Amino acid sequence: MANQLPLVLVTHTLPDGWLDSLHGRCRTIIGPKDATVLAPELKAHLSQADGLYTLLTIRVDEDILDKAPNLLVISNMAVGVDNIDLQACTRRGIPVGHTPGVLTEGTADLAMALLLAAARRLDEANHDARHGLWKTWSPTGWLGADLLGATLGIVGMGKIGTAVAERARGFGLRIVYNDSCPNQGAESRFGASCLSLEDLLIESDFVSLHVPLTGKTRGLIGEKALRLMKPNAILVNTSRGAVVNTADLLLALREGWIAAAALDVTDPEPLPPEHPLYKQPNCLITPHIGSATWNTRRRMAERACENLLAGLAEECLSFCANPEVYSRE
Ligand code: DGY
Repeated sequence: MANQLPLVLVTHTLPDGWLDSLHGRCRTIIGPKDATVLAPELKAHLSQADGLYTLLTIRVDEDILDKAPNLLVISNMAVGVDNIDLQACTRRGIPVGHTPGVLTEGTADLAMALLLAAARRLDEANHDARHGLWKTWSPTGWLGADLLGATLGIVGMGKIGTAVAERARGFGLRIVYNDSCPNQGAESRFGASCLSLEDLLIESDFVSLHVPLTGKTRGLIGEKALRLMKPNAILVNTSRGAVVNTADLLLALREGWIAAAALDVTDPEPLPPEHPLYKQPNCLITPHIGSATWNTRRRMAERACENLLAGLAEECLSFCANPEVYSRE
């Protein structure tokens, strides 16, 4: 009887308990903890798989989809789905689940932490304290930027952008934002005005990115955008690395077009240890930890299980990244 249950390939080993809701509902084959490609033991079972539970480090493309003709659902344990060829999934009638909502607060906390750390040069100060460069209380040592009264430009006023605005208001920042459609809620709650991207870049002392990676947003912040920013401006990226052009950012930081950057996401990812961005004292880099709290990651895993089970039952996913799949002819 047990082998009548649908077969699900889970690309990574996850902590105990995170996949509990799958027990008794499907058979699973589970990949290694830190996989960056589909493990051979999972690849070998693609042709029989009914479901795929994946993380953002696995590229799910035509090559994988061609080998998995029976897939009823793909469930990504992430809100971003740029690792998945969504159009190819839609063409094949495969709904793709993702996890919006549950990582909003954690990611907004990290964006604020990065903004504060870059504004007050925490990375440099910590480095210098540890390396014997703290000789005295210096009136001009490690001077940074004030938040009170400064302008924060939020690019992408969705759930996470809004949660960042909420936190930033507490620090006395004035909020402006850019989005494809005006967000009335943000305007009434934070007095935030919607600006063109150009005006936002020109006006802001801090710019925080909260857009998904799509064909339109890839390289959105390149030389032209960086040159519009103020020389005292700080760029914070907790969205996707490729929204920023890495080579242009390096130049901007070296040549002082902007003051600093704080990046939780990079392009490529991981950024190799020899990358010159690490040598820039005005660039703070963390390893894609926006959602890295125990509660958030567990809730992401559970939401991904819910999506997966709905897909296996051929029900509509509650959190579907390609809802157009349900209206195909
Ligand atoms: C996501 O869910 O897309 C995040 O980047 C993970 O932290």
